[in-house]
Amino acid sequence: MRSHYCGALNANHVGEQVELCGWVHRRRDHGGVIFLDIRDRTGIVQVVYDPDTQDSFAVADRARNEFVLRMSGRVRPRPEGTVNPDMATGEVEVLGATLEILNASATPPFQLDEHSDAGEDVRLKYRYLDLRRPEMQQRLQMRAQVTGAVRRFLESQGYWEVETPTLTKATPEGARDYLVPSRTHPGQFFALPQSPQVFKQLLMVSGVDKYYQIARCYRDEDLRHDRQPEFTQIDIEASFVTEEDVRSLTENMLRSVFLGVLGVTLPAFPVLTWEEAIRRFGSDKPDLRNPIELTDVADLMGEVEFKVFKGPANDAKGRVVALRAPGGGSLSRKLIDDYTDFVGRYGAKGLAYIKVNDLEAGTEGLQSPIIKFLPEAVVREVLQRVGAENGDLVFFGADTASVVADAMGALRNELGRDLGLIRGDWAPCWVTTWPMFEEARDGTLTPAHHPFTQPTCSIEELLARPEIAQAAAYDVVLNGYELGGGSLRIHQCDMQNAVFDVLNISNEAEVKFGFLLEALQFGCPPHGGIALGMDRLVMLMSGTHAIRDVIAFPKTQTAACLMSAAPSVVDEEQLRELHIRLRKTD
Ligand code: AMO
Ligand code: AMP
Repeated sequence: MRSHYCGALNANHVGEQVELCGWVHRRRDHGGVIFLDIRDRTGIVQVVYDPDTQDSFAVADRARNEFVLRMSGRVRPRPEGTVNPDMATGEVEVLGATLEILNASATPPFQLDEHSDAGEDVRLKYRYLDLRRPEMQQRLQMRAQVTGAVRRFLESQGYWEVETPTLTKATPEGARDYLVPSRTHPGQFFALPQSPQVFKQLLMVSGVDKYYQIARCYRDEDLRHDRQPEFTQIDIEASFVTEEDVRSLTENMLRSVFLGVLGVTLPAFPVLTWEEAIRRFGSDKPDLRNPIELTDVADLMGEVEFKVFKGPANDAKGRVVALRAPGGGSLSRKLIDDYTDFVGRYGAKGLAYIKVNDLEAGTEGLQSPIIKFLPEAVVREVLQRVGAENGDLVFFGADTASVVADAMGALRNELGRDLGLIRGDWAPCWVTTWPMFEEARDGTLTPAHHPFTQPTCSIEELLARPEIAQAAAYDVVLNGYELGGGSLRIHQCDMQNAVFDVLNISNEAEVKFGFLLEALQFGCPPHGGIALGMDRLVMLMSGTHAIRDVIAFPKTQTAACLMSAAPSVVDEEQLRELHIRLRKTD
């Protein structure tokens, strides 16, 4: 129906006869001449109708925003003074000849131009219209380009794409399952996969050797800006590999995607152990664009009068850190109070600080509510250790190690942004050597990744002191986001049973993953892999802050679709077929 895309026209086409199809982005009637801005997925071009082409002019007169048109005309340079440098096609316009309305449009519920201030809800309800906006089209295009680049790269490395079931059993990623009732097996349910983890391991038992899948995953968990209930992983698994093999494959894949799609050469991926990441940055997903680090000072606080510091300094599970905010001396009292409230959300009971006005002047040159409780020599040592300079603010966190890491790690991010300290565009890194388990509030152990992760110790050591066991697990982090996680896997039955024992889930595991345990007995090769969040990757690459921006039809915070009104009630007949009777809700 057309010879060119609208956005493709430029000065090279002057004089050419073209046929275009698209939507009316804007219509302007300049008394006797009608300008139609016609939009398709490539961009916008201006088409002009004058009364000389009588029939077409009459049609142009009837056209309204979002009408679908087909037209032909001749490309010409825009008259002197009307060139629009902000538009890719701004040097030219099309002098319209024919014009046909292919379809009319109701008045859209919001303007599709950049000035629209429509709320998120209305945009999600009319998502198909919101997606017409150029920036949304660009994100969809970038997503397709990333998917294509990933597939090309992994295929070039000998990986096979294998699809795994989505009507399956519970998978062990720690979120709630989405369940699907079975009609043919009354009272029984499928679970939608939280990841293809178990199946990809079984494919290694099958001898597939190198597997990947752009896999849809489902997790019923609390949603945030970087989490959706339904999301996509770049899921990878390979046999006879080391941790370094998986890391280097992942790095090369990300390099090839960034270069191919953005023309960006990613910098080196530093490797941090989990322990180092928590110690220096208070986070297992540190944003390395931020120069702030945490400095441990507990060794200086063991004897001080100030109980807030002395307590944690003398407690094996406690931690005391100082954090230097360069130039933070200009922060107002009100802002410091806001930061105190902010760290409170992470469990911190306060936020002590020292304002450094004049280092030369000793105590006189410092301003702080706690300085009177600390010996001068301790204060001097702290300031030296953090490298304080005049005009800085030094914050303190003292509590259990985990509260300090959470609170001060979060404060580090906040200050990095607020003080404009973020440097560079891309800072990837690896966080390796994770603890095998985390201690839940009730003291029980849960897997830090998932229970198929290979511990680095022997079975005996694992059973004797599981709380200090480490795992051959690694996360790839980009600009403070956990982009992906993986590990070497347990490929021997005894070790797998030992891990289930530590987790106290042996019986449950037999029911849930008995088929995997059985498979491990039939010559399972050593194997390992990783999964990257595709949505998060595209979110970061396209410079937006919410993964729903890079998902064509996303869900809301309450895991609903405003457009299709899903989830929705089903009729009694359908429920009866599924052997389901609903309980009354309060
Ligand atoms: P994990 O649970 O760490 O590992 O998930 C891997 C990556 O998937 C992304 N991700 C999400 N993205 C959007 N919304 C969500 N709700 C969501 N949950 C996770 C993240 C995360 O890093 N089977 C293992 C991988 C492996 O061991 O190979 C797994 O699923 O970017
Ligand atoms: P207080 O003795 O509670 O009045 O606190 C004195 C100062 O120490 C205040 O600036 C508090 O914000 C700060 N503070 C209290 N508890 C902590 C803590 N756990 N970590 C860091 N600073 C704290």
